[in-house]
Amino acid sequence: MNITYQRLKNEHERLLTLVEVLEEELVRVDQGGEPNYVLLGDCMDYLCCYPETFHHPIEEKIMNQLAVIEPASRELIQTLNQEHLTLKDLGQRVSTSCRAVAQESLFPWEEIRTELAAYAALMREHILHEDNEALPLAEQLLPDEMWPESSSLENDDSDPLFGKVVADGYRNLYHHIINRGS
Ligand SMILES: [Fe+2]
Ligand SMILES: [Fe+2]
Repeated sequence: MNITYQRLKNEHERLLTLVEVLEEELVRVDQGGEPNYVLLGDCMDYLCCYPETFHHPIEEKIMNQLAVIEPASRELIQTLNQEHLTLKDLGQRVSTSCRAVAQESLFPWEEIRTELAAYAALMREHILHEDNEALPLAEQLLPDEMWPESSSLENDDSDPLFGKVVADGYRNLYHHIINRGS
């Protein structure tokens, strides 16, 4: 497995952790708990910012190369690229709603719940598609020189949640993640 492929898979595990946090919050509220809009807002903030800047653009470079050399993959790649756009739009909408409620604007929970659940489900399904279909196909068909340089992909310093230094705005979410299940 080349380094870029490994990195994308590692990031998928991190993104799935955030999806699990969202899903756990939905279950907790369904069972009578109060929505934690600050936590949900932090989660959506990360999901909107980090993958949009560092993860999806790299995938799109790889997938667009794959579409050129393997026409049979084009439909799958078009779907994945479209899902990136949907995740971006939906994610920004939910993120804005969570922040608005956290700052006391009124917004019906049921509306936010529906969009959060849709976002979590789509992100989970999208990652499964990439892990099970698109990335293995890219690894099989794309020569190493067609993958983005791994030296330009070091992300430990740039990831504000899972990197070497946790950014101030993500400390609350970070502690929630490491204390899950304890
Ligand atoms: Fe993706
Ligand atoms: Fe991905």
